[in-house]
Amino acid sequence: MISINVTDREGQTHTVEGQPNDKLMEVLREFDWGVAAICGGMCSCATCHIFVEDEWLETFPQREMDEEELLEFLDHFKPNSRLSCQLELREKHDGLKVTLAPEE
Ligand code: FES
Repeated sequence: MISINVTDREGQTHTVEGQPNDKLMEVLREFDWGVAAICGGMCSCATCHIFVEDEWLETFPQREMDEEELLEFLDHFKPNSRLSCQLELREKHDGLKVTLAPEE
């Protein structure tokens, strides 16, 4: 089990649990926080946009070109922006901290 600390768009922090190999988006969209994930993880909608706390950024592979291209056109893009559908959970992510990006 992997515990993830999620700060929602209201600033409330919740602890949720995922399994190794889960896409982070799949965990987040189970809750009523506005992670619509309307493209189903095809890296084309950006409704799964999150910010990964700086100390956890290096634990994920760097952005692929398609993720980068989608993110950089978002109003709320930041250096720690990621599409949660592109992030696979591993045991090492236990304690991960992320914040949901504002709706575009
Ligand atoms: S679910 Fe659409 S880009 Fe992530």
